[in-house]
Amino acid sequence: MTSTWFTILLLALGSLARAAQIYEDVSELPTFTFDFVVVGGGTAGNVVANRLTENPNFSVLVVEAGVSNAGVIPSIVPALVSELLPRTPYTWNFTTTPQAGMNNRVLDYPRGFILGGSSSVNGMFYTRGSRDNFDRYANVTEDPGWGWDNMLPYFFKNEKWAAPSDNHSEIGQYDPAVHGHSGINSVSLNGYAWPDSDARIIQTTKDLPDKFPFVLDMNGGVPLGVGWFQSTIGHGERSSSATSYLGPQYISRPNLHVLLHAQVSRVLQATENSLHFNKVEFSQNKKTLYNITASKEIVISAGSVNTPHILLNSGIGDKTTLERFGIKPLIDLPSVGQNFSDQPVTTNNWIANATDTMEFYTQNTTHFNEVFAQWNNTRTGPLVDSIATHIVWLRLDPESPIFQKISDPSAGPHTPHIELALNAGAAGGAPGIGHFFSSATAVVAPLSKGSVTLNSSNPFDAPIIDPAIFTSDFDVFAARTAILKTQEFLSAPAWRGYIVGPAEPLASALLSDAALDEYIRNTSISAQHPVGSAAMTAKSAGWGVVDPDLRVKGATGLRIVDASVIPFAPAAHTQAPTYAVAERGANLIMGDWK
Ligand SMILES: Cc1cc2nc3c(=O)[nH]c(=O)nc-3n(C[C@H](O)[C@H](O)[C@H](O)COP(=O)(O)OP(=O)(O)OC[C@H]3O[C@@H](n4cnc5c(N)ncnc54)[C@H](O)[C@@H]3O)c2cc1C
Ligand SMILES: *[C@@H]1O[C@H](CO)[C@@H](O)[C@H](O)[C@H]1NC(C)=O
Ligand SMILES: *[C@@H]1O[C@H](CO)[C@@H](O)[C@H](O)[C@H]1NC(C)=O
Ligand SMILES: *[C@@H]1O[C@H](CO)[C@@H](O)[C@H](O)[C@H]1NC(C)=O
Ligand SMILES: *[C@@H]1O[C@H](CO)[C@@H](O)[C@H](O)[C@H]1NC(C)=O
Ligand SMILES: *[C@@H]1O[C@H](CO)[C@@H](O)[C@H](O)[C@H]1NC(C)=O
Ligand SMILES: *[C@@H]1O[C@H](CO)[C@@H](O)[C@H](O)[C@H]1NC(C)=O
Ligand SMILES: *[C@@H]1O[C@H](CO)[C@@H](O)[C@H](O)[C@H]1NC(C)=O
Ligand SMILES: *[C@@H]1O[C@H](CO)[C@@H](O)[C@H](O)[C@H]1NC(C)=O
Ligand SMILES: *[C@@H]1O[C@H](CO)[C@@H](O)[C@H](O)[C@H]1NC(C)=O
Ligand SMILES: *[C@@H]1O[C@H](CO)[C@@H](O)[C@H](O)[C@H]1NC(C)=O
Ligand SMILES: *[C@@H]1O[C@H](CO)[C@@H](O)[C@H](O)[C@H]1NC(C)=O
Repeated sequence: MTSTWFTILLLALGSLARAAQIYEDVSELPTFTFDFVVVGGGTAGNVVANRLTENPNFSVLVVEAGVSNAGVIPSIVPALVSELLPRTPYTWNFTTTPQAGMNNRVLDYPRGFILGGSSSVNGMFYTRGSRDNFDRYANVTEDPGWGWDNMLPYFFKNEKWAAPSDNHSEIGQYDPAVHGHSGINSVSLNGYAWPDSDARIIQTTKDLPDKFPFVLDMNGGVPLGVGWFQSTIGHGERSSSATSYLGPQYISRPNLHVLLHAQVSRVLQATENSLHFNKVEFSQNKKTLYNITASKEIVISAGSVNTPHILLNSGIGDKTTLERFGIKPLIDLPSVGQNFSDQPVTTNNWIANATDTMEFYTQNTTHFNEVFAQWNNTRTGPLVDSIATHIVWLRLDPESPIFQKISDPSAGPHTPHIELALNAGAAGGAPGIGHFFSSATAVVAPLSKGSVTLNSSNPFDAPIIDPAIFTSDFDVFAARTAILKTQEFLSAPAWRGYIVGPAEPLASALLSDAALDEYIRNTSISAQHPVGSAAMTAKSAGWGVVDPDLRVKGATGLRIVDASVIPFAPAAHTQAPTYAVAERGANLIMGDWK
């Protein structure tokens, strides 16, 4: 469909006006001093910029490396998300090192290079993780403020529950009591039904209730079970931090400024011998450098890959590593870029004896044009949704042999180890002509830990990204279990006459555990959920990068607010946790400047 949407994109682009406070060129900036400078206009950065500018006395500049989100059709039409990835004008085009746990494959590692950051290119899954996950963050930071009960108000501040675009009854599909209804970022149930497979999924929770119980709302703190999918979509369009937190009513604030196409290279000290940071160095062409001064604070929100990279470039990181690259060490923080923790996902397809799957429009241009016109005219039809209908969250069986070798890495008993994202249509590209049902299986309590490090002393060179996927035996075992659990799910009576059998290469892989492990290592990809590379820990901890108030340890004037501070992977897709961390982070900053 690439050429189809590209034509549409060209048609749409001409008609879009740019908001007044979003600058394309440094020469448009009204000043070079702001109260706060936010590095990265991504998921978290735009939350911080929005909340700080609620106070008209605070001026904020967001410095964003990427392009404008305005008029980028695949970033607006939910079902066209795959057109944004992996190497397009909207991503950083990163790749990983050869992954030892994946038969030395080099993976694409897309990160949003667009206003809204990864929230403008992600799969829009809205999942918060478990109560245990946040209680563990409270534990490791010794700050109860990061615990589940105290974080719920921040999830609510972020969230504006929206009706599904088909206005179907939501009763029995989610729990309104655990959602925010007057926040900023739209979240909704799917707005297009796939009646055949939807009914069979729900029937499976009745056929096999002990193994696959129904969960009314996976976002209430205990995700375990099978629930209806929720996503950051409102009225048939993607809701990103750019469309929500920088929406028209906010971007018009005279104290909120955004500069695009500006890549930050370093943060700089106020004076040579101080560890107070107040300048942000950036360039629009990777050559000519500019400084912007933050008279109150610098907030780095460049994401789990770029935040540690900027710190290292600035002399904040492991002293020995910095010296090896000729960078003067200012703060010796060996945790910068370490404990980089991602989740692997495997895309598994079954042949479906059906006609109502996504293939009806992905494999027929006439139908695609029809459903696009339907989206364009009424914001209804199959393009209003992302790429899942339900999610199954499971723990491994307690007697699993892996637990004889490795103790349970999950945050607690209410926390899943694995996720099965079900969809009426193939995942990861259809394995042929026809109709498919898929389960994208993920390890959501991974043990493997990788790193982000320097490749050169030039801040504009890409860092070395090693998520070290499947370097832990636990993660391979869990990935295998997730596929076998899907097979068990699909063997329920509800699926008779619908599932014909696994499609290749899954069919061959299912012949033995060894073949399955090989398939997992050869076909899995990153879920793009890295966290932990600038972890928050207790003030007294011997590791970590920021304190519980998100201040960089050993520095003043410098905080980090993004996914990188989350110290352990949540059992979730990471945008909702990132939004909640950003809401609380903004609140902490405002509290200090009352
Ligand atoms: C392809 C993909 C699919 C995903 N799917 C889902 C999903 O379905 N559901 C979910 O919950 N999560 C998903 N995630 C993960 C989720 O989107 C991220 O965890 C979250 O958005 C991270 O937010 P962040 O603020 O930390 O970083 P980002 O949102 O990535 O923001 C970082 C911003 O900083 C900018 N930046 C970086 N370096 C610099 C620099 N040097 N100078 C200036 N600007 C800079 C970037 O361009 C970007 O705009 C997905 C991620 C990706 C990439
Ligand atoms: C803004 O500054 C003015 C003048 O100093 C002060 O009166 C006002 O209370 C401040 N507003 C806020 C929201 O802090
Ligand atoms: C990524 O590659 C695409 C095309 O392949 C290009 O248009 C885009 O500018 C690249 N992004 C970056 C950040 O270099
Ligand atoms: C964190 O958890 C450990 C182990 O359960 C416990 O011993 C410790 O007291 C907890 N710390 C805090 C601050 O809650
Ligand atoms: C859903 O309800 C809204 C608000 O009442 C209305 O504007 C919209 O047209 C309805 N959509 C459909 C598909 O019925
Ligand atoms: C930025 O500030 C530093 C001092 O902190 C100075 O050395 C450097 O020359 C400045 N760069 C520019 C482009 O003004
Ligand atoms: C990585 O995280 C673990 C806790 O899971 C911690 O003990 C260790 O010190 C961290 N390593 C670094 C380099 O920060
Ligand atoms: C696509 O659908 C149209 C309309 O139903 C049909 O006439 C056509 O044969 C289909 N094309 C393909 C390639 O299946
Ligand atoms: C989408 O709708 C706009 C008007 O809202 C129209 O100009 C455009 O041609 C439509 N595009 C398609 C592909 O239908
Ligand atoms: C690291 O630098 C080397 C030498 O310049 C280059 O070949 C390689 O592609 C770089 N790696 C990354 C991840 O950019
Ligand atoms: C496909 O479904 C039809 C009924 O819709 C049924 O008659 C047929 O046996 C099914 N085929 C397979 C292979 O399950
Ligand atoms: C898996 O990848 C390895 C290395 O690329 C290759 O030799 C092997 O044939 C692949 N296995 C399967 C089952 O595709």
